[in-house]
Amino acid sequence: MTKLQIKDLHVSVKGKQIVKGLNLTINQGEIHALMGPNGSGKSTLAQAIMGHPNYNIDSGDILIDGESIINLPVDKRAKKGLFLSFQYPAEVPGVSMMNFFRMAMNALNGAPKTIPEFRQIVKQKMEVLKVDESFAKRYLNEGFSGGEKKKSEILQMALLNPKIAILDETDSGLDIDALKTVSEGISSLAGPETGLLLITHYNRMLKYITPHFVHILVDGRIVKSGDSSLAMQLDEKGYENIIKEMTVSS
Ligand SMILES: Nc1ncnc2c1ncn2[C@@H]1O[C@H](COP(=O)(O)OP(=O)(O)OP(=O)(O)O)[C@@H](O)[C@H]1O
Ligand SMILES: [Mg+2]
Repeated sequence: MTKLQIKDLHVSVKGKQIVKGLNLTINQGEIHALMGPNGSGKSTLAQAIMGHPNYNIDSGDILIDGESIINLPVDKRAKKGLFLSFQYPAEVPGVSMMNFFRMAMNALNGAPKTIPEFRQIVKQKMEVLKVDESFAKRYLNEGFSGGEKKKSEILQMALLNPKIAILDETDSGLDIDALKTVSEGISSLAGPETGLLLITHYNRMLKYITPHFVHILVDGRIVKSGDSSLAMQLDEKGYENIIKEMTVSS
């Protein structure tokens, strides 16, 4: 069973410390939600896990199955089964989604798929995610609406079958129906083979996917962890009240 461990992680961006001693373990099969105010360091954590060069690990470690990955390039991290969706996905003009997905899948899985085999797999996944077939012919994210970009990410995740996936605000900017489709899509990908870290601001996606653990990140540290009821409390009370209650009780 694959395990992602984050140990006493400190991350800085352009000389400013953002993540300040974060500990988190995600096992395959577990769904974790990471919530927290704007600027608390959620995306920074995600970028550091994936190895973005602007995010500097000052101390601490990130391990997969006990092995440190912080010196591995991005592609090696992906080969270990990590998947990261971006809060602001890039447009790649001239690369069709179909080609991009096929390259990514072949790069990860070693045994290349033929084009008909590949088309069949994509078609099947697109049906599950209720994505229109014409979608795959378009260039990656070019002219995609916000919701279409999110669907393309989830389709990519469905094809790559990661062991641990980090989804950064996959629920932002979706209309009510798309939120349901995307959330149910993610939910259908969850299971004993997949560990999920869902970064989100709202409880709405969590109505479709119940996390086993909810963590609240404030100023670069996890200040509270709990089960899915914590996300509901947050919806009712907001961060400030939850933090206040903690200071009173401690
Ligand atoms: N590339 C960067 N250059 C400069 N500052 C950055 C960069 N990336 C992150 N930061 C800063 O780090 C802090 C944390 O940002 P981060 O994007 O991790 O927050 P977040 O918790 O994901 O917030 P949000 O909920 O708004 O997405 C912010 O003050 C942000 O301005
Ligand atoms: Mg963010």
